[in-house]
Amino acid sequence: MSPSPSQTFKPVRKAVFPVAGLGTRLLPATKTMPKEMLTVIDRPLIQYAVDEAREAGIEQLIFVTGRGKSSLVDYFDVSFELEATMTAKGKSLEVLELSRADYGELISVRQQQPLGLGHAVWCARHVVGDEPFAVLLPDDLMAGTPGALRQMVDAYNRIGGNIVCAEEVAAEKTASYGIVTPGTSEGNLTEVLGLVEKPRPEVAPSRLGVIGRYILQPEVMDLLDAQEPGAGGEIQLTDAMAKLIGTQPFHAVKVDAVRHDCGDRAGYVLATLKLAMEREDLAPLVREALAGL
Ligand code: UTP
Repeated sequence: MSPSPSQTFKPVRKAVFPVAGLGTRLLPATKTMPKEMLTVIDRPLIQYAVDEAREAGIEQLIFVTGRGKSSLVDYFDVSFELEATMTAKGKSLEVLELSRADYGELISVRQQQPLGLGHAVWCARHVVGDEPFAVLLPDDLMAGTPGALRQMVDAYNRIGGNIVCAEEVAAEKTASYGIVTPGTSEGNLTEVLGLVEKPRPEVAPSRLGVIGRYILQPEVMDLLDAQEPGAGGEIQLTDAMAKLIGTQPFHAVKVDAVRHDCGDRAGYVLATLKLAMEREDLAPLVREALAGL
């Protein structure tokens, strides 16, 4: 599992954010508002994911957007009117700092039809080029210090290859995840021998489910060229990743972070509550209100 200590790998500088999905599980909230713009406390989900990517050393943010998703790109603009008005009123602009992209930091490409996560990632192929890249699904809000992607990049810098973030999922939930056929484990790393998308519990090879963070080698784009539909008729990233196994090193890592599945109603509500309980300015109020319920 461990390469020689002197081995170095191409750095992970680019991150793909697939944000072109329809978000049907959160309708009607997501009818006109992108799921990734839903707010947890005081910032949209996309901001949490971008913060995590920047902390991990990512230099180029690649958004894969679709129809009705322009607000995700606009959010990272400079808002001249707002800033001028705030400045005139003597208000600090510090609160807006992280929502501004640096010049050239953000690139958006279009997925004209939501044909699946694999297809969304493939839409970024020309921008990714021949470098390893990260993928972050913003509806998986990862709360951890250091951030989940930082921990994955650290693992990548030691072992290289492809790395997916994974966690043990409930037996009855395997049909909601890509599931790993595990090989040998060392610390928080497990060798990946196979991957299957959304298996029923009785045929799942394990309960180790892939969650919304990946570090992938560019060859996965060649495998996605085939555009073969998989589970649910969608072009699945899992199927292309499965074909890489055996040709390149492939590991799953369990990071020290809590995942909040904000693509789901209950997960979204719990994320807001849990994060509020961790904020000094909100925790006392929230605790008191909850105790009174
Ligand atoms: P989901 O599986 O959560 O699908 O996508 P979804 O369409 O967003 O939501 P539901 O299931 O209908 O409620 C996981 C991630 O992949 C992106 C989504 O935007 C989300 O970030 N995605 C999915 C795309 O960008 N394009 C697709 O064709 C599918």
